[in-house]
Amino acid sequence: MHAARLNVPSMSVIWKQLFSLLMSDEIMTSQQSRSKPHRYPNYVRLELSLHSMAAWSPKQPLGLIRYPGSPGLEMLPTRRISGNAVRGRRGGFITRAWHGEKPELFTLIGVVCLAVYGYYAVFGGSSGVTSVNTVGKNALAVSTYKPAKFVSWPSVLKSCTPREGDDADGSEKMRVLVTGSAGFVGFHTSLRLKQFGHGVLGVDNVNDYYPVVLKRARLSKLSDAGIVSLEADLNDKHLIRKALDACKFTHVLHLAAQAGVRYAVKSPSSYVHSNVAGFVTLLEEIVHTSPTPKVVFASSSSVYGLNTKTPFSEDDRTDQPASLYAATKKADEHLAHTYNHIHGLAVTGLRFFTVYGSYGRPDMAYFSFANNIVRNKPITIFQGEGGKELARDFTHISDVVDGVVSSLETSEASGRKADGTKPAFRIYNLGNKNPVTVSDFVSLLEKHLGKTAKREYIPMPKTGDVPFTHADVSKATADLGYDPKTSLDEGLKQFAEWYLEFCAGSACAEIQAYKPSR
Ligand SMILES: NC(=O)c1ccc[n+]([C@@H]2O[C@H](COP(=O)([O-])OP(=O)(O)OC[C@H]3O[C@@H](n4cnc5c(N)ncnc54)[C@H](O)[C@@H]3O)[C@@H](O)[C@H]2O)c1
Repeated sequence: MHAARLNVPSMSVIWKQLFSLLMSDEIMTSQQSRSKPHRYPNYVRLELSLHSMAAWSPKQPLGLIRYPGSPGLEMLPTRRISGNAVRGRRGGFITRAWHGEKPELFTLIGVVCLAVYGYYAVFGGSSGVTSVNTVGKNALAVSTYKPAKFVSWPSVLKSCTPREGDDADGSEKMRVLVTGSAGFVGFHTSLRLKQFGHGVLGVDNVNDYYPVVLKRARLSKLSDAGIVSLEADLNDKHLIRKALDACKFTHVLHLAAQAGVRYAVKSPSSYVHSNVAGFVTLLEEIVHTSPTPKVVFASSSSVYGLNTKTPFSEDDRTDQPASLYAATKKADEHLAHTYNHIHGLAVTGLRFFTVYGSYGRPDMAYFSFANNIVRNKPITIFQGEGGKELARDFTHISDVVDGVVSSLETSEASGRKADGTKPAFRIYNLGNKNPVTVSDFVSLLEKHLGKTAKREYIPMPKTGDVPFTHADVSKATADLGYDPKTSLDEGLKQFAEWYLEFCAGSACAEIQAYKPSR
C-alpha cells in the first residue's frame, strides 16, 4: 500500500466512486483482470482502502487482485460467485480475503485511512468542485479547481487573532479575512492591518493570470509578518465556512477577483467564476455567520464605463460598462446591495482608480512599461479618438490602503437595529483627483528608472479600456477622512526603487518575459 496523499479527493468524489463500485455487478475474474489490467489504474490507494472498508461485510467479500505486471496486491470488492469462494486462476489471481486471510489487517488499514481523511477534512482540507478553471492556458476549460493546500489550523488561529495588549488607545482590534491576499492590494493591506495589531487571515487561489513568482514573493513577505494565507478558491465554500467559524471575523475585506480589462476578451468565464460566483459564495457564507462580519469589497472605476461627465462621482451613471470586467464589478455592487437589503449586511464598495506601487501588477501598463524601458524595448502607448492621449487618475497604493483601512474601521455593525433599520450601503471612489496623461506618466518613470523609453503610439484597441478616468473623492474625504497624499513623482520614485531592486539579477526574468493581453 502506498502512503495516503494529503491532496485527497473530495468526499463527494469518494462516495460517488464507492457507490458506483458497490453497485457495480462486475465480477473481476482473473480473466478479466488480464484483459482489463488497467480497469482501475488511477485510483488513489486511499480510495481503495476506503472502498474496501465500505465493501467490508460478510455479504460482500473482499478480493485481493494482483494485476499482471503489477508489483503488489490491490483490494477491490468482488462478488460472491458461489458460497464463500471467489474464482481465481493463474495469472492475476483473486484470493479469498475476507474468509481466508486477515480481515483485521484490512480493517486496521481502513480505519487509519479514514482517520487521515478525517484529520485532513477538519484541519486543512476542502472539497475540489467542478467549475470553471480560472487560470492560464486552460482558462476556458471547465475543470476541477485544486483542493485547498494543507494548512496547520493552530497557525490559522494565531494569524487571525489580534495582537495582545495593543489596544491601549481604546481602539477595538479587528479580525479580518482578506480575500486576494496574494494580490497587489490584498498584500499591502494585509501587511498594514497586521502592523496595526489586527488579526488577519488571507485567502487566495494564487492563479497564474500573471506570473505566480510575484504572488509567491508577496506571500513569503506575509508569512514573515505572521500572516497565514489559505491557498484556496473563493468558491470553496467548505473552507470559507471553516475559516469563518474558526476565526469569528469582525470584517471581511474582499479583494480577490479576476482583474484586468483586456483579458476578459480572452477568458470571460474566469470573470464570472471569480467575480460573480465567487462573490456570491462568499456572501452566502458570511450571512450565515453569527455574529455577521462587516464587508468591504473592491469595485472599480471601470464601472463608470462610457460615462463622460467628469470628475466621476458616486452618483453618476454606471449602467454603461465598456468591458466584461466592468460589468462583473457592477454586478458585484448590485449583489452586495441585495445582501444589504435582505440580510442587513453592512457593505462598503470601493471603486479603485488605477492603483500603482511596489509589488504591483505586471499586467498593468506602468509595470510593463518598466519591464520594457529597462530592457531597451519599445513601449506601446494607446491613443483615443483623434490621437487624444489616455489619461488616468493614478493612485498610489499607500493612499489606497489608507482608504481601505478607514472603510473597515468606519463600517457599521451588520444586522438590523432595534428600530428595524439596516446599515447603510456605502460606495466610495478611491482615486487621486489628478488625472495624468500616459505620456507624462512615462516621462516620470524614465526619470526614476534612469533610462529613456522607446515610445510607439497606436490607436487604442476596442477591448474595453476607457480613455479617461478622474475621481471625485469628496464623499470618501468626508466619511473616511480619505486624503491621497502621494504625488506621482514620489510614488513612481518608490516604485522604480522597488522594481530595480526586485529585478536585479535574474529575480524577475519571468515577470519581464510576461506579456499581458492586448
Ligand atoms: N489594482 C488596480 O488598479 C485596481 C483597480 C480597480 C479595481 N481593482 C480591484 O481591486 C481588487 C484587488 O486588485 P489587485 O490589483 O490586487 O489584483 P490582483 O490580481 O493582484 O489580486 C487579486 C487576487 O485574487 C486572487 N483570486 C482571483 N480569483 C480568485 C478566486 N476565485 N479565489 C481566490 N482567489 C482568487 C488572485 O490570485 C489574485 O492574487 C480586485 O478586486 C480588482 O478588481 C484593482
